[in-house]
Amino acid sequence: MRIDIITVVPDILKSPFEASILQRAIQKELVEIHLHNLRDYTTDNYKQVDDYQFGGGAGMVMMIEPIDKCISKLKAERDYDEVIYMTPDGKTLNQKMANGLSLKENIIILCGHYKGVDQRVRDQFITREISIGDYVLSGGELGAAVLCDAIIRLIPGVLGNETSALTDSFQDNLLAPPVYTRPAEYKGWKVPEILTSGNFPKIEAWRENEAYKRTKELRPDLLDEDF
Ligand code: ADE
Repeated sequence: MRIDIITVVPDILKSPFEASILQRAIQKELVEIHLHNLRDYTTDNYKQVDDYQFGGGAGMVMMIEPIDKCISKLKAERDYDEVIYMTPDGKTLNQKMANGLSLKENIIILCGHYKGVDQRVRDQFITREISIGDYVLSGGELGAAVLCDAIIRLIPGVLGNETSALTDSFQDNLLAPPVYTRPAEYKGWKVPEILTSGNFPKIEAWRENEAYKRTKELRPDLLDEDF
């Protein structure tokens, strides 16, 4: 998979890809991340990427020209499955969306800033608009990092244990069951006996039941969702 991220602050997006699972995915050549500084696609001396809103109003708007130049250059080099715009008014990211996107070959992610992008960018280039939650960030970069993490960890070979992404919370509209590790008893607090019984069918049944109980208590809305 190849992900091209268009941003005015590429520095924000460096460290998420320089550690742990995402770094390993890049080293294993399971994913390529390309950061594009939007200012490199400007033609004026000030490298201006934003301007005042037509009709007045507070806040600057990202101009169409540098974005068009960057996206058109990338599209001339290869086909893209999706051109995603990170914005608080997009569709809220969930596991199902991450699952679908992890199967794509080439993706562009455009990070918004200021009051957002000129609407013509959204109309002409964007295939999907994604928010990471109902709150406003200073820009789309942290959202893009969250989206990339959610997608990349699902690519086969990225996680050591192939089954571990499949047993994450949300994969079957259920939260994950509780987990424990050694010691089996700490300060008198014991691990549920079933987990040390070696009876794997029973352990599996216990986990399913706990996942259901936890979801019903903490996120009953998930149980009503289509799956
Ligand atoms: N840009 C600003 N706020 C955002 C959000 N909540 N999700 C995605 N991109 C954003």
